[in-house]
Amino acid sequence: MFPPPIWMMRQAGRYLPEYRATRAQAGGFLDLCYSPKLATEVTLQPIRRYGFDAAILFSDILVVPDALGRKVAFVEGEGPRLEPLDLSEVGRLDLDGIARRLGPVYEAIELIRAGLPYETTLLGFCGAPWTVATYMIAGRGTPDQAPARRAALTDPEGFAQLIDVLVAASIAYLSAQVSAGVDAVQIFDTWAGVLDPSELRRWVIDPTARIVAGLRAQHPGIRVIGFPKGVQAGLVDFVTSTGVDAVGLDWTIPSAFVRAEVQPRVAVQGNLDPMRVVIGGRALDEGVDRVLAELGDGRLIFNLGHGITPDADPAHVARMVERVRSAGTRATA
Ligand code: CP3
Repeated sequence: MFPPPIWMMRQAGRYLPEYRATRAQAGGFLDLCYSPKLATEVTLQPIRRYGFDAAILFSDILVVPDALGRKVAFVEGEGPRLEPLDLSEVGRLDLDGIARRLGPVYEAIELIRAGLPYETTLLGFCGAPWTVATYMIAGRGTPDQAPARRAALTDPEGFAQLIDVLVAASIAYLSAQVSAGVDAVQIFDTWAGVLDPSELRRWVIDPTARIVAGLRAQHPGIRVIGFPKGVQAGLVDFVTSTGVDAVGLDWTIPSAFVRAEVQPRVAVQGNLDPMRVVIGGRALDEGVDRVLAELGDGRLIFNLGHGITPDADPAHVARMVERVRSAGTRATA
């Protein structure tokens, strides 16, 4: 077996001592996102350490609401806090902010590209409209995104206006990232799994399809990875309706289904349980071997099923990379 390409969601993050050191220099988390030099440094750190096949731009999905004119803050140890949005305020969101206020992100992309080995893919990203809307409405992360689900069912027209603004913002944002130098983009829909089938179509599948089409109208052929976390029943509909080139899988999705229904249509990315990277040892090795054995014969980008957590040991990541890259030799030995 030829080893699949490998990178990790949240590969630049708190599990790395060098990230924590740079983060300490930056002041707030958003200052880190908006400093082209520091964002470049933390993007490159995991590439230097592990030689991943892809780097992902260091930023956050919540710079979009920030650019649209909402107040966004990251509270140490608690996560993001936004001023909760009432749907009556959607008309005040400022779409021009994507070009006007996110200049430091585009500048970082140019610096990162210049600092990356030529063979390393640079990924840009945005949050999907549904997931970004959940944070804008609740003003914070919640266990089941009840505030946004409530708003979407109570006032579907008002909610559709918010989604429309976020679709336009995402197209503008991703398009500017491609112009600045990213090779492909990922759309993170962390909270797609909390919706019923009709809401999934309306707030996840359709808006993602519009983003992919809008982006490709400006950048034909640009590769897009979708990540509708927690979606299984709607996954085939997601890949066939959105036009994504690859789909991220969380670790709960059964491989038999992926091999039969998903890999024939698009590449898949995933799906090691991040807990196995925390534990290391046999739990890690068995998880890596399982992904390679079950998904490695089809189109696969090796990754975790969600972001690496701050309590993961950097040595375990090195062990994972080594095991993935030596998979072919081990299988034939
Ligand atoms: O993957 C990468 O290395 C690139 C950078 C990246 C970050 N956030 C950096 C970050 C990416 C792609 C994201 C995406 C993101 N941000 C998502 C979607 C993917 C996912 O993980 O579900 C979401 C929902 C957010 C919103 C967000 N940002 C939350 C809920 C939090 C707090 C949770 C936590 O882990 O503290 C953040 C903060 C954040 N974004 C950190 C990092 C490295 C940690 C903050 C810090 O360093 O102080």
